Amino acid sequence: MRKVAVILALAAACACAERNPNAARDAAERMALRAYPELPAVADVPALREAGRTHFRSQACEMCHSTSAERKGLAGPPMGGLAVRVLERHGGDALEGRRWLVKHIRDPHVFPSPHAGTAEYRGAAMPPNGRLQEKQLREIVEYLWSLP
Ligand code: HEC
Repeated sequence: MRKVAVILALAAACACAERNPNAARDAAERMALRAYPELPAVADVPALREAGRTHFRSQACEMCHSTSAERKGLAGPPMGGLAVRVLERHGGDALEGRRWLVKHIRDPHVFPSPHAGTAEYRGAAMPPNGRLQEKQLREIVEYLWSLP
């Protein structure tokens, strides 16, 4: 039953993004600013990462992604070394890089990664995650950011 609800929610999120891509873009932009008005305080980071690690499992991210840098996941790019890759694409700006991750995780069709549609992942794309709230997104991003 829960699986059916998740699939319906994903389908609804996709349909919504297709009907009005600008609305989806604006919603993701706003979410990124709410999740990251500024970088987290150093003292808060360990707790954020720990919570993010739990979400990464409960949200089935690890079904497709590995957390190591060497090993590819079943369907998506490895999450290890992600911060370095994202920083490169954002001119070394740690805040903008994190905001991009929030947008990508929430709405990957509107904010695709450079891997989207490539042969490397057999044309697979990230499923959208409209149900994640800014607090959870911030925690997941801090966890991913910490993976060597
Ligand atoms: C059904 C498989 C699948 C699931 C589940 C999934 N992803 Fe992905 N993910 C992908 C694929 C495929 C890509 C590469 C293509 C793209 O960007 O759409 C990707 C790309 C990414 C990227 C960009 C990597 C980079 O190098 O820029 C991040 C970050 C990411 N996923 C995080 C997550 C998180 C967090 C979750 C859980 C909330 C998640 N993914 C769930 C398949 C998945």
